[in-house]
This record gives sequence, structure tokens and C-alpha cells, in this order.
Amino acid sequence: MAILIGDTAPDFTLDSTEGPIHFHDYIDGSWAVLFSHPKNFTPVCTTELGYTAKLKPEFEKRGVKVLGLSVDKLEDHAGWAKDIAETQGSALNFPLLADPEGVVARQYDMIHPNADNTLTVRSVFVIGPDKKVKLKIEYPASTGRNFDEIIRVIDSLQLTANHQVATPVNWKNGEDVIIVPAVSNEAAKTKYPEGWKELKPYLRIVPQPRA
Ligand code: BEZ
Repeated sequence: MAILIGDTAPDFTLDSTEGPIHFHDYIDGSWAVLFSHPKNFTPVCTTELGYTAKLKPEFEKRGVKVLGLSVDKLEDHAGWAKDIAETQGSALNFPLLADPEGVVARQYDMIHPNADNTLTVRSVFVIGPDKKVKLKIEYPASTGRNFDEIIRVIDSLQLTANHQVATPVNWKNGEDVIIVPAVSNEAAKTKYPEGWKELKPYLRIVPQPRA
């Protein structure tokens, strides 16, 4: 059965470039990004992994642990890591899980048989500290992902987990947000004593709450 937003992310144990990882223990109350890439020693994946390594300080700032996964063997990960460092200017600095039998890849529906029977597509799962799936995105093998977008979405997920707001189209951290319809005007007056911009009764805009 497909893993849907709101489901508990399945637990697993796999070898990785940083030793064996028992997923639920590893994330241990942090946010996590679990993403699959189709295959080691391929061009698009090389660029994605290098860029993700570059973004490590951004993930850390947000309390997010990143893990990559492919159906390659652990020893192939080590060889490919050298190429990533050499060509992308940033060495692998997060665990790359080895799932050569595709057990976790199938558990997470990362293999789409009508696209490719053995390799994973480019799946991304953002998982919250409660181990629930907060976001899933899937791209085909031919299209490299936008990892800046993943950071943007994490900003929205973390904000909306702590405040009764939602983020509008193309929102970026620091921009105005929307008061969710579940908050009455009465309650909104207490939360936002400086008021809000009401375009429609259901579309109320406020500055992004801090902290
Ligand atoms: C790539 O990363 O370039 C790639 C991997 C698998 C299929 C197609 C492209």
C-alpha cells in the first residue's frame, strides 16, 4: 500500500556510507529527508548528491537529517563518493543507504515498474519528528530535483507545524502567510492584535509569525 502524507514512515535497517542505520532510532526526534536516486555513477544523480552535500548547513540549521538511498551496493557508494567530491566541489557528508535488494525502495514505492522495473525514481519524503510523512515528491530519472525547493517546503512545514497559518503560492521564508480558516476572527484578534489584511473572509493575510 502506498505511503501517504500523515502515515508513519516505515522503519528499516540498512547499511550506509556512515555505518548501519536503524531509521527510527537515527532520526531520533529530528526532521528527516529520505530521498532515492536511481543509480550511482550517473550524471544527474552526481549533481544532485553534490548539491545536497553543499546544502548541509541549511538542513542542519533547520534540524533536518538527510539520507540518500539507491539500489546500489555499499562498496559502489564509496567509489562514486570520490567522483561526487571531484566533480561537484563538495564531498558526500550525509549517509547514503545501500538497498541492493530494493527492499526499502519497494516499501516506500520508490520503484515505479512502468518507468523502470529495478531502479528507483527520484522520490523525496520529508518526515517530521513524530515520524509521520509530511511531504512526498516524485520526479522521473531524467529530471534532477530542485533541492532549494525542498528547503523552502521544509520552512513551510516547520512554520505551519507551530502556527495556525498556511503558506501561499511561491511563498518564501519571511514573506506574508495566510491565517487558516479554522481560526475565527475572534481568535485571530488575540493572535494578531495588529490585525490582518482581509481580501475575502476566507483569505486573511498576516506577516509571518516569528519563533
Ligand atoms: C542520471 O542520474 O543521470 C540518470 C540515472 C538513471 C537514468 C537516467 C539518468
